[in-house]
Amino acid sequence: MARKKLMAANWKMYKTPQQAQEFLRAFLPMVDGHDRDEIVICPPFVCLPAVVEALAGNYIGVGAQNLHWEKEGAYTGEVSAPMLKAVGCTHVIIGHSERRQYFGETDDTVNRKLQAALAAGLAPIVCVGEVLQERESGLTEEVLRRQTQRGLSGISGDQARTLIIAYEPVWAIGTGKTATPQIASEAHAVIRAEAAEAVGKVTADNMRILYGGSVKPENAKALMSESEIDGALVGGASLDPKSFTAIVRY
Ligand code: PGA
Repeated sequence: MARKKLMAANWKMYKTPQQAQEFLRAFLPMVDGHDRDEIVICPPFVCLPAVVEALAGNYIGVGAQNLHWEKEGAYTGEVSAPMLKAVGCTHVIIGHSERRQYFGETDDTVNRKLQAALAAGLAPIVCVGEVLQERESGLTEEVLRRQTQRGLSGISGDQARTLIIAYEPVWAIGTGKTATPQIASEAHAVIRAEAAEAVGKVTADNMRILYGGSVKPENAKALMSESEIDGALVGGASLDPKSFTAIVRY
């Protein structure tokens, strides 16, 4: 079954609104007319309005990198799903490993954020992935199953239609070490099987599972050639318009 690939840029804590606009001025003409894949740009919160404005009338989506699960309240420093929707976001990244590692994100908070994103009509990109020690101890499959099962707990097949999962082996993020297409494919199959348990086979079969972790122009084609890999979540190499274009147009 052909799933349209999705190429997402995760800018992490890089770029001011002005730098985001400069990126898009260079990037948009280079991907003009490219409709083979979907493209989503996930800048820092403060850049969202500028990116939404620069992409007006364009088919490219805009994603936040995090959200809070409550709609509003006394949660200093947090941003809610309806707020993201109100500024024009289409997507939101949830449970990135950096948030799990540095900001106490757990499978439970991932699940709460996922429910909030879906309720607000945002397409969630839920990140899962094992750390090096887990891979070396043969725990990869167990970790991916647990993260997928707990993350998707209580979500119906119908709700999950817009859900995207990103497999990001933590040992490959920002390290220059990429999972081989085969390693990624195997992990994606595990995630899809577990997602099928949670939200049903039909929804899981249609679900995009992206690969993330040192995706570069040089390795994008080999990764994207795998039928199990439905796109990429790109960190470092998405900060430069030329290199992200090369990945998008692999
Ligand atoms: P990287 O980051 O491409 O810089 O490895 C990917 C990610 O963390 O989403």
